[in-house]
Amino acid sequence: MASREDDEDDIDPVKMLFPLDEKHGHNTLSVPPLQDTASEQQLQQHYIGSIQSTLVIRQLPSQGLSFKLWPAATTLVTLLDQHRCQPSTSSLITVFTNGPDSRPLNILELGSGTGLVGMAAAAILGAKVTVTDLPHVIPNLQFNVDTNAGLFSLQGGTVHVAPLRWGEVDDVELVGRGFDVILASDIVYHDHLYDPLLETLRLFLNSGVKEKKMTFVMAHLKRWKKDSVFFKRAKKLFNVEIIHVDNPCNGSRIGVVVYRMTGKATKIS
Ligand SMILES: C[S@@+](CC[C@H](N)C(=O)[O-])C[C@H]1O[C@@H](n2cnc3c(N)ncnc32)[C@H](O)[C@@H]1O
Repeated sequence: MASREDDEDDIDPVKMLFPLDEKHGHNTLSVPPLQDTASEQQLQQHYIGSIQSTLVIRQLPSQGLSFKLWPAATTLVTLLDQHRCQPSTSSLITVFTNGPDSRPLNILELGSGTGLVGMAAAAILGAKVTVTDLPHVIPNLQFNVDTNAGLFSLQGGTVHVAPLRWGEVDDVELVGRGFDVILASDIVYHDHLYDPLLETLRLFLNSGVKEKKMTFVMAHLKRWKKDSVFFKRAKKLFNVEIIHVDNPCNGSRIGVVVYRMTGKATKIS
């Protein structure tokens, strides 16, 4: 599929960060704060049709962008849900190639934020998932994982929470490299983060471990022209293809795009 990140105009980021609503398959519930420091918190429910279960996330919008759900996350959750229902027609068919009797998938999520994508992967695929983010985001991520822990274990999945700062080799060493798939949503937004993120991806995808080829799947909603710089640099390091494009919604001109990236055979760290 052709790449489309080179020819879009700038998009209003405020408009694209709309609070998600019922039209997208989930509800936002305002509840009283649990702690004095959390002046505004929202619990949001996400129904996963393929397993007839509901995940709940706590958002703390007043604490910054890491504490709310971004639009591309729901696209990945929807694709995972569809994959479980109809794997043969799924956009993720080239990503999750394990047969029904294979060992559980080992999945890493980068920049997890509220953790919805990683938790959905654990519940839908019965996978062993590690969700990661900056250290100050970990307590809310752990809260969300603890809240939904019963659901993962019912489905045979597990979720582990770990700090992982992009560009930090030591953090990559700590989580290890034994993953089948890396997931992420809406993690390309500040240009100063492009190179640290690409370095972390390079360490995983181009690690030179021949028997362990990892696939990176990233859902992205383009907001700024400069996002293209990230993809141009990524194409030099990895094989990049588009596996899904959402229809635009809420008055925007483009929808969420899902990319699949794999290491180039010649690159060895
Ligand atoms: C726009 S939010 C998206 C959150 C979540 N993936 C979603 O789609 O709802 C970007 C995430 O990347 C994380 N992040 C930003 N810089 C990072 C870095 N240097 N290392 C690791 N994570 C980072 C943020 O903390 C935040 O959770």
